Order: sequence, then structure tokens, then C-alpha cells
Amino acid sequence: MKFFVDTANLDQIQEAQDLGILDGVTTNPSLMAKEGIKGKNAVLSHYRKICDLVDGDISAEVISTDFEGIIREGEELADLHENIVVKVPMIKDGIKAIRYFSDKGIRTNCTLVFSAGQALLAAKAGATYLSPFIGRVDDISWNGLQLIEQIVEIYGNYAFETQVLAASIRNPLHITACAEIGADVVTCPLKSILALLNHPLTDNGLAKFLADAKKMEE
Ligand code: E4P
Repeated sequence: MKFFVDTANLDQIQEAQDLGILDGVTTNPSLMAKEGIKGKNAVLSHYRKICDLVDGDISAEVISTDFEGIIREGEELADLHENIVVKVPMIKDGIKAIRYFSDKGIRTNCTLVFSAGQALLAAKAGATYLSPFIGRVDDISWNGLQLIEQIVEIYGNYAFETQVLAASIRNPLHITACAEIGADVVTCPLKSILALLNHPLTDNGLAKFLADAKKMEE
């Protein structure tokens, strides 16, 4: 399972990269705005910085919602760097654009996915990645992990090449559950990745080893 970090914050991306386990980055307009990035040139330059930090797939989201606009923006983003994956919303013109990009060899990440039917359409259109949002489904008292399970099963039935990129991860249990289900990728906030490190028995065990090691000092 690939690990992506879900942030536009360069320090957090660097910290995840330094762990040596990072396979890519996802961003969205909310995450970019949170970093105070304003204007098209600043947005493009920020994506270039992320590409310089991480040698892996970097999802950059379009903000147009009409076919021509999505194509124009997506081609500009894809031209920035070979690792850029154009993130396209799950809407009618988005599906048309994913088919267009796929035919041109431009890789895509279909975002804002909340149902198996949407997942089928994105795979048929040739999306490289599909982003179902676990946490936001959980937030409305449905079951985000069941959605991942359903999509993984459907894609397996037909050997679709679209990779399931579990998004909107809220905690480390989401990550391990996605691994059990067989999601291809998880994109997580840095804090959820770091939370995987934690176990009280590790902390207690290490404290005891270090205390005993002191006894061996001359
Ligand atoms: C990632 O690609 C998504 O945009 C992101 O995971 C959404 O997460 P959120 O529901 O925490 O905003």
C-alpha cells in the first residue's frame, strides 16, 4: 500500500519525506488556501516546490467545473512536472475530462467520491486514482470503510486499473483498516501517519531497556 501525505504544508511534507516511507502527496484547494497561497503564479510555484521535495505522485486539483476549463487548467498543471497527477472533481464534465486526459496520457485523480456508482464511472473513464472520502462519509453517520471495501471488490471483479486512493483519513485505524481491505493508497494527515508509531508497550519497553542499559555503564 502506498502512503501519500495529505497536505500542502512544506514542513509537514518534508517531515513525512524524512521518515523514508512517503510515496506521494495530495493537495486540494482548501489545503492550499490554508498555507496562505494566493494567485495563480503562487499556486504553480508551490506545486513546483512540492515536486522538488518528493519524488512521487503529486495531486494538483483543478478549480474549473466546465470541460474546457478543466482541460486548460489540467494541461497547465501536468506541464509543471512529470509527477503531477491532475485532480478532477466527480462531476459530469469531470468525467469527460478524465477520459480526455486518459487518452492523452495525462494521469488523473478523481476526487470527491462518495459512492460505488461514482467509482465505476471514474474507472470507465480511465482515472489513474480514485479518491473516496472515508472521514466525510463517517461524518454523516454512514460507513466510509464499507465504501472502500465495496469499491475494491468491484474494481477487482473487472480488473480495473484505477487505483483506490483512500482519502479523508481521520485516524490511524482508518489506515490499518484500508490496508486490510486492500486499498492501493492511503492519503493521510501527517499526524495520522505519526500516530501509527505509538504503542504504550513500546514506550514502557524502551524505558526499561534504557534503564537497564544504564546499569551496565562503568
Ligand atoms: C484528499 O485528496 C482529500 O482532498 C482530502 O483527503 C479530504 O480530507 P478532509 O475530508 O479531511 O478534508
